[in-house]
Amino acid sequence: NLGIINIPVYVHVVYSNSNENISDNQINSQIDVLNEDFRATNSDASQVPTEFAGLVADSEITFSLAGVFRHSNSRTSWGTNDLVKSTYPPITPETHLNIWVCNIGGGILGYAQFPGGPTATDGVVVGPNFFGTTGYLSAPFDEGRTTTHEVGHYLNLRHIWGDGRCRQDDFVSDTPSSDGPNYGCPSYPTVNCRSNDMTMNYMDYVDDACMYMFTEGQKSRMRSIFASGGPRSAMVN
Ligand code: ARG
Ligand code: ZN
Ligand code: CA
Repeated sequence: NLGIINIPVYVHVVYSNSNENISDNQINSQIDVLNEDFRATNSDASQVPTEFAGLVADSEITFSLAGVFRHSNSRTSWGTNDLVKSTYPPITPETHLNIWVCNIGGGILGYAQFPGGPTATDGVVVGPNFFGTTGYLSAPFDEGRTTTHEVGHYLNLRHIWGDGRCRQDDFVSDTPSSDGPNYGCPSYPTVNCRSNDMTMNYMDYVDDACMYMFTEGQKSRMRSIFASGGPRSAMVN
């Protein structure tokens, strides 16, 4: 048992205008959301339906801001091909979560690399207007949950529907199977694949206000990457 795992975070703010040069307050508000969501101290966890309430997990993972790096660049959108990472390389990605905050474009809120990939591209990318809970933000993605979702991927979580139809797994046994993403703010119950969808899971595609839990199974999948021999074992001790 590794106990509480703290992940130090470097934030790279890459901006083409003053809105995108988000404030330290906005950055800190995102770190706060990560700490609430990964420790299940988020106030909206109380909305989890009874059916799933026993599965709500405190992942025992915390985040601390280790540094902020600001870069002005005339490029107005960065896409999803990791150009922002080669332009501003990650700093000690073996031991730190690197987050690039820049406009991705194409309606993309964020993207992440799963553990085990190249260190040069390790980390997550999130649009400035989807980062944190105060400042330059776009509803309904203004509660910091895009970063919670992307850090879920960074810690090895798949989308809750397994990116396929009913039989396609997310490799987590306590998340019900589903056949595709949910959007907006679905009412409970939403039935797919003969069971109620866990639409309120951070790894679905619903609005920020409508996602508020990880499961115990997701917790163990995340934590296993820190175990000896795991792809992020260098981050502990
Ligand atoms: N589309 C992105 C992804 O698949 C992020 C979705 C985030 N959703 C949200 N409600 N903030 O990685
Ligand atoms: Zn995703
Ligand atoms: Ca599952």
